[in-house]
Amino acid sequence: MADPKKYILPSLKEAQKRTQRQVVIERALFELPEETRNLGQGKKYYLRTYGCQANERDSETISGILEAMGFLRVDVPENADLILFNTCAVRKNAEDKVLGEIGHLKGIKKKNPDVVFGLCGCMAQEESIVHELMRAYRHVELIFGTHNIHHLPALLHNVMVKKQKSIEVFSKEGDIIENLPAKRNMKHKAWVNIMYGCDKFCTYCIVPYTRGKERSRTMDDILKEVIELKESGVKEVTLLGQNVNAYGKDLKDGSSFAELLRQVALTGIERIRFMTSHPWDFTDEMIDVIASYDNIMKYIHLPVQSGSTDVLKIMGRRYTREQYKELFDKITARIPECAFSADIIVGFPNETEEQFMETMEMVDYCKYDNVYSFIYSPREGTPAAKMEDNVPLEVKQQRLYALQDKINGYCNMNNQKWVGKTVKVLVDGTSRKNDQVYSGYTEHNKLVNFTGENVQPGEIIDVKITEHRSWTLRGEKVN
Ligand code: SAH
Ligand code: SF4
Ligand code: F3S
Repeated sequence: MADPKKYILPSLKEAQKRTQRQVVIERALFELPEETRNLGQGKKYYLRTYGCQANERDSETISGILEAMGFLRVDVPENADLILFNTCAVRKNAEDKVLGEIGHLKGIKKKNPDVVFGLCGCMAQEESIVHELMRAYRHVELIFGTHNIHHLPALLHNVMVKKQKSIEVFSKEGDIIENLPAKRNMKHKAWVNIMYGCDKFCTYCIVPYTRGKERSRTMDDILKEVIELKESGVKEVTLLGQNVNAYGKDLKDGSSFAELLRQVALTGIERIRFMTSHPWDFTDEMIDVIASYDNIMKYIHLPVQSGSTDVLKIMGRRYTREQYKELFDKITARIPECAFSADIIVGFPNETEEQFMETMEMVDYCKYDNVYSFIYSPREGTPAAKMEDNVPLEVKQQRLYALQDKINGYCNMNNQKWVGKTVKVLVDGTSRKNDQVYSGYTEHNKLVNFTGENVQPGEIIDVKITEHRSWTLRGEKVN
């Protein structure tokens, strides 16, 4: 057994804490420690990202750091000197997938003992997972948390040069580290973090423990980033936060999400998206700003989680079914063409058939364009994990299927509406299945596969929709 004293291990108890401690914003220019500067020369890395956009964005920072050290990215783990998994802990099946994959790739280490296996992201923040990795996955020699990304060079030096296992996971509430390098995945679209962490503590959710407390970047830092991105040719930014409505509250300088959104719109960048906005605290001013600027996309991800007020209460969601509908109606009254998506959890502990039917009714009411639906998964350390649960897994599965059937119906119905219309598409590139076909997203976030001539990624072009599928649209470029 490795000596735990050498490591900084995560602590669930610490992760659950919130204090009045002031958030530190670190703005020093990022510099690689002297001894790590050439560590990646001639070496290759493989990075796989699981989970949400926060992780996607973190992976861009991780790539930025590794490439500054000289590493080159490869697409297959077998060709890499460093294999890194940026992980998600939101549901158990997400974790099982990662552990399965790490076990599956163990043979690579046998063939080449110099390969470094690393795990970071939200699973690294879990006390029990890190202990499990130390016990049963000894080939994983590098573990670092969501608050430790900027220490990656030193941790790698420890593994690669000193040949020591490196585990560093801070469970503190978190600071803000500006100016880290980033290797962005796309040239014309970018994620922009506006805040980190979450203080909503929905009773089922692990994110407040893996990501620390809510802390906002300053409006100046965010606007500077958006302007730089725009100048470098980026057409679309997505403002990221676990709950963007909470933006600015911690800064106590009057900053709010509505104001930030307005300022970002005024930069003139062509497309602005944001996620996730919590139905609680979605202000009238936010609705007004979204309605007022053409470059703010009329598509809102508004997770409902359940249609039952009683379940919502036990989930700690802070709104009733009526309040959710009221908000939905208010937005659609002001922005009639607005598209909506949501997240829904079925089979929350003791969910009754009637309560589930209220969720089904909510889907009928909102006719979402898309819903991400999940079976409830107990997460260690959360209040819901301690609740007794009388709903058998089979019943949960049946509810999920019934719900997904309904969701698909509305998705199909909403897609059908677009046939015959001409829409603006931001071109991503060629379709994954056919390189004669291009793909991109409409303003309402519909994926369109289309044909046409002289199409360049990053362009916004008119496409006439000719057909619809369950999840995608088909069309032709309008010349
Ligand atoms: N901050 C976002 C959600 C991030 S997690 C929000 O509040 O909307 C993404 C989604 O995962 C959640 O909306 C929820 O539907 C789902 N989720 C979170 N914890 C879960 C759990 N324990 N079991 C099942 N689904 C869960
Ligand atoms: Fe999780 Fe709720 Fe925070 Fe979303 S708002 S990340 S569901 S605790
Ligand atoms: Fe998963 Fe962490 Fe995001 S738990 S959903 S990767 S914040």
